[in-house]
Amino acid sequence: MAIDRVITFLDAHRSVFEEQLKTLLRIPSVSAQSERDNDTRAAAEFVRKDLATIGLNEVALIETKRHPLVYAEWLDAPGQPTILIYGHYDVQPAEPLEPWNQPDPFEPVIRDGNIYARGATDDKGQMFTHLKALEGWMKTVGSLPINVKVLIEGEEEIGGKNLEIFVAENREKLACDYVVISDTSQFALGLPAITYGLKGLAYFELIVHGAKTDLHSGMFGGAVANPLNVLATILASLMGPDGKVRIEGFYDPVRPLLDWERADFAKLPFSEAEFQAKLGVTSLVGEEGYTTLERKWARPTCDVHGLYGGYSGEGPKTVLPCKAGAKLSFRLVPDQDPLAVAEQFKAHVAKVCPPGVTYEIKEHHGAPAVLVGVDSPGVHAAVRAIEAGFGTRPIFMREGGSIPVVGLFKTQLGVDTLLLGWGQDDDNLHGPNEKFSLDDFHRGIKASAHLLAEFTRD
Ligand code: BES
Ligand code: ZN
Repeated sequence: MAIDRVITFLDAHRSVFEEQLKTLLRIPSVSAQSERDNDTRAAAEFVRKDLATIGLNEVALIETKRHPLVYAEWLDAPGQPTILIYGHYDVQPAEPLEPWNQPDPFEPVIRDGNIYARGATDDKGQMFTHLKALEGWMKTVGSLPINVKVLIEGEEEIGGKNLEIFVAENREKLACDYVVISDTSQFALGLPAITYGLKGLAYFELIVHGAKTDLHSGMFGGAVANPLNVLATILASLMGPDGKVRIEGFYDPVRPLLDWERADFAKLPFSEAEFQAKLGVTSLVGEEGYTTLERKWARPTCDVHGLYGGYSGEGPKTVLPCKAGAKLSFRLVPDQDPLAVAEQFKAHVAKVCPPGVTYEIKEHHGAPAVLVGVDSPGVHAAVRAIEAGFGTRPIFMREGGSIPVVGLFKTQLGVDTLLLGWGQDDDNLHGPNEKFSLDDFHRGIKASAHLLAEFTRD
């Protein structure tokens, strides 16, 4: 059978693929850092060349206002379905560098069967599995069993708007039956998963201004509002001790967890005690009345990501700062609307902010949560493909992370995305010592090769 020849080729090329992945990981394509713009472009160029070598048609670098998109297609399977493979070649900044166990996060290190480097799992390693699966088919059979479009972007980690513009302007070109994305995780070691839900996001920066200049806290404290104190008051008002967000109307549109979901989550092999121990925390916290998996995957949350203001250098300084700021976000669930949450948040701050200060609210990314159906021909094909590639039937899970393009593909192209994650939850994406299991890399390549076959229609 054709797929057997593909799998033999993939097995024979394991070390070649690993070397290619290392080359891609050596390119520091940090989309957020403009001094790395040439490297970011080099990563796009690497992906373009790889797709051209594989033998796809219409391989192109598409310029945007910032980082280029890479597009390729192979549409020579008339009557067969079409999938659009999406991934991103950009990565998060590697800083801070001290906690990394290797001198350079962009010089991959292989340890205990894992490849360590920034972007190993998010998303270069995962994205690359699909390219190698396409290569397996093209280099053995000389064709693909279905039609394939590939779209790899370079602004995922900065919430760039250029992909959104491109998708809106190219709906015909991108038309497909399903989108396939590998940018999530498996449930656990040896337990692959299909993710059917992602959270949305509403991200803000709240900046509080007080006096014209920093002041002596002895001379002016008690008389003049302290923006840091005020910020602390506002932030403390956002969540109650029961773990609920205390913003009016926030929970109104929240779709409750369904009974089957709660029952299925409860059956998963998850130990709260082990989870707690692994993270090194003294207890798990969160909204009352929900299990840890329910809170992580399907309940909205609020987190502060950074605070600034006053003096945090060495030793004391009795300053009464004139300005303080916080970055914070709400992770959203269906059917919360990020724009409505922004309005609710602004109304809340207006209500609780004490006198004596002014403030501004900057709105960063926003994306709605997504839920995709678990009972479609595409999902069934993915289940069979993962079972063939990983040797284990995948479970269904939701995730707390956000992939805004999933919502975009639904609204613009009217299609569901298959979220086939090959990562692990301890892969440290966005953190130091990011890794990706090489076994999962090769299993992911095989699952993707099987997916193309499983999608065929008689
Ligand atoms: N791959 C992640 C999203 C993810 C991580 C989904 C883990 C499921 C499990 C993605 O690259 C990411 O980090 N997204 C951002 C989105 C934001 C910048 C709009 C996120 O979730 O913080
Ligand atoms: Zn990411």
